[in-house]
Amino acid sequence: MPDRVAIVTGGASGIGAACAERLAADGFRVLVADVQAEPGGALAARLGGEFVHTDVTREDDIEALVDRAGPLEVFFANAGVFGALGPIERTDTAEAEWTIAVNLRGTLLCLKHAVRVMRPRGRGSIIVTASPGGVVGGVGPHVYSATKAGVAGLVRSVAAEVRDYGIRVNSVVPGAIVSPMTAAVLAGDPADLGAAARAMAPSPLVGRPGVPGDVAGAVSFLAGQDSGFVTGTELFVDAGYTHAPGPASFAKGGFAGH
Ligand SMILES: NC(=O)c1ccc[n+]([C@@H]2O[C@H](COP(=O)([O-])OP(=O)(O)OC[C@H]3O[C@@H](n4cnc5c(N)ncnc54)[C@H](O)[C@@H]3O)[C@@H](O)[C@H]2O)c1
Repeated sequence: MPDRVAIVTGGASGIGAACAERLAADGFRVLVADVQAEPGGALAARLGGEFVHTDVTREDDIEALVDRAGPLEVFFANAGVFGALGPIERTDTAEAEWTIAVNLRGTLLCLKHAVRVMRPRGRGSIIVTASPGGVVGGVGPHVYSATKAGVAGLVRSVAAEVRDYGIRVNSVVPGAIVSPMTAAVLAGDPADLGAAARAMAPSPLVGRPGVPGDVAGAVSFLAGQDSGFVTGTELFVDAGYTHAPGPASFAKGGFAGH
């Protein structure tokens, strides 16, 4: 049995499932932690790992998950929800609190317990899924965007503490990715990935929308020793969507002398 263990929250679906597969291929024993028992259990069985029913809003679930893991080397805190939608003046407070509980409070609890078991080992890599919505306005729902800005801040703050213990903390920032989350919003049906893909503009870089597998290589890099000198940062896996959405009109030619 490999002595390298990776936990993936939200591992039953979408980005988490693709990254669980990749981490298993990288040689980790993968614990798929999710509220969806059926797909999570099937995936874990296929990967030779284990499904652990985990609701990231419950600290006792996360505590038990981490204690069960054994030699925890990687914690991918990826579970998230799109959550409360709509204009700010009609934001439903209960939905907003649930969104914060899953995306921000849940990530905080994952960091807390991951560090608790990694610190005595003097090593470990924690990866968090953030979003372009946490960086620029207008590309995600309000509360979702606030939680994702929050997790990016949490990553920097905790990374600054735990580098003293040999632990790295980074975030991965996927662009728009075809998954049950985006299918639920774009197609009204989380299972209709085809409709979600048709509704998304193809990325000019690759001529198609992003897919969960596009994120897996970045997570593999942040999990492994090739990123041993990388902490407290964000890895954008968005084909330029956030920081290079151009080209600017000035780059298109037609200006004096160009
Ligand atoms: N799909 C995108 O375009 C996109 C872009 C940027 C960031 N993200 C982020 O990527 C992550 C994964 O999203 P996805 O697109 O794969 O969505 P998804 O809906 O396919 O997967 C999310 C998983 O999280 C699980 N989950 C939800 N609430 C949970 C809870 N309380 N406890 C444990 N598990 C819970 C779900 O059951 C699901 O398996 C999320 O954090 C999301 O915000 C997605």
